[in-house]
Amino acid sequence: MLQDDTLRHIAERFGTPAWAYDAETIRRQIAALRRFDVIRYAQKACSNTHILRLMRAEGVRVDAVSLGEIERALKAGYGAGEGDIVFTADVLDRATLARVVETGIPVNAGSIDMLHQLGAQAPGHAVWLRINPGFGHGHSHKTNTGGESSKHGIWHSDLPEAARAIRHYGLRLAGLHMHIGSGVDYSHLARVCDAMVAQVAALDLDIGAISAGGGLSIPYRDGEASIDTEHYFGLWDEARRRIEARLGHPVSLEIEPGRFLVAQSGVLISEVRAVKDMGSNRFVLVDAGFADLMRPAMYGSYHRISLVRSLTDACPPLRPQVIAGPLCESGDVFTQGDGGIITHRDMPEARVGDLLVLHDTGAYGASMSSNYNSRPLIAEVLADGESIRLIRRKQRIEELLALEDVD
Ligand code: LLP
Repeated sequence: MLQDDTLRHIAERFGTPAWAYDAETIRRQIAALRRFDVIRYAQKACSNTHILRLMRAEGVRVDAVSLGEIERALKAGYGAGEGDIVFTADVLDRATLARVVETGIPVNAGSIDMLHQLGAQAPGHAVWLRINPGFGHGHSHKTNTGGESSKHGIWHSDLPEAARAIRHYGLRLAGLHMHIGSGVDYSHLARVCDAMVAQVAALDLDIGAISAGGGLSIPYRDGEASIDTEHYFGLWDEARRRIEARLGHPVSLEIEPGRFLVAQSGVLISEVRAVKDMGSNRFVLVDAGFADLMRPAMYGSYHRISLVRSLTDACPPLRPQVIAGPLCESGDVFTQGDGGIITHRDMPEARVGDLLVLHDTGAYGASMSSNYNSRPLIAEVLADGESIRLIRRKQRIEELLALEDVD
C-alpha cells in the first residue's frame, strides 16, 4: 500500500490527477493464487505494458481481448506460442483474425462463428471454448457474463455443434473456459464448477486444460472480507479431479483474474480545486472525473476516499461531503450509488489544495478512461520499494488534435 508521503511525492513530481500503482501489492496478490497451474492475467483490468512486464517476470501468463491487447502483450515480451497469450472474444474482427493466424496465438472462442472463420483460414489452430453455462453473476448486472441476457460465450447446449466445427476444420481443442461474471460471490462458485464437470462430460473431445475464468472480488469497503483463495482453489481443484477421473489423464487448471491482481495496488490521486455548499450539499470538486475513473458513474461502484494534506494541519472534523469531478455532467460524482443517486461520504472536511485519493482503483481505472470533454489521458506511475517511475506520461492535447489532421 502506498503511504501518504509517497502519494504526496508522486503528486509533486508528476502532477495531478495521476494513477499510482504499488508493485508489492500486485506480487502479494499473485502469490495468493500460486496453487493454480496457470495464472492468466486479464489485462483489460490494467493493460499498461510495464504492469504486463511485472506479471511476466512473476510467471503470470496473459489474456488479450482485442488486437491492441495482443500487441501490448507482445511488446511486454510475451511469446506468441505455447499459450503465453490467449485471445478471448465473442467476435473475430478481420484484422485480429489475420494477426492470430499469423502469430498462432490460441483463440478462446465465445461464438461458433469464430470457429468457422478461424478454421477456414487456419486448420490446426489451437482453440478454447468459452461456455455460457446458462447462468451468471456479477457485482452489477453489467458485469454478469452468463445466462441468456448476456451476449458472452457459446450457449451450453450448443457444445456438440462447436465440437463438430472443431472436428470439421481439424482445430486443436486446448480446453474449456467459463467466466460467469466479474465480482462473483462464493454461492455461485460450486454451481460453475459443477457446470464445468457436466460440460466436459457432454463433450466427446479430449481436453488438457480448464479455465475458471476471472471474477474474484476484492474488499472495496472497510470491513469487507478478502476472498478465501484456498477455498476457491479447493472447489476448482475438486472439479478438476472429477474431470481427470473421467478423462483418465492430468488436466491443467487455469485462473484468469483481472481485478484481484491489480485493484488494490492502485490509487487515483487528485487535487481538491473547489469546495461549495449547494443547499444542504457540500460539494468537493477535484481535478479528476469520470473520464479518468468511470466505475462510480458506470456501476455506482464504491471506492474508499482519503485526504492527504499538509503535515502541519490539525485533524479536521468529519462531515458529509459529495466528491465530484470537473466534467460537464451532474453524474460526474465519485460518491454515488446504483442508479446514479448522489450520496454523501462522511470524511474529514476537504479544503482546496488537499490531495484527494480514490483507493482500489488499480483495476478498470486507467484502462476504462476516455478523452471525454477533450481531456488528455493522465499519467501512470509505478512504485516498487524505493523506486518510483513514470510508466505512462500524460497525453498531450496536441496528440488528441493530431488525430483529426486528415487533410
Ligand atoms: N475473463 C473474462 C473472459 C472476462 O470477461 C473478464 C472481465 C475477466 C476474465 C476478468 O474479470 P475480473 O477478474 O477482473 O473480475 N469494468 C468492470 C469489470 C468488467 C469485467 C469484464 N470482464 C468493473 O469495473 O468492475
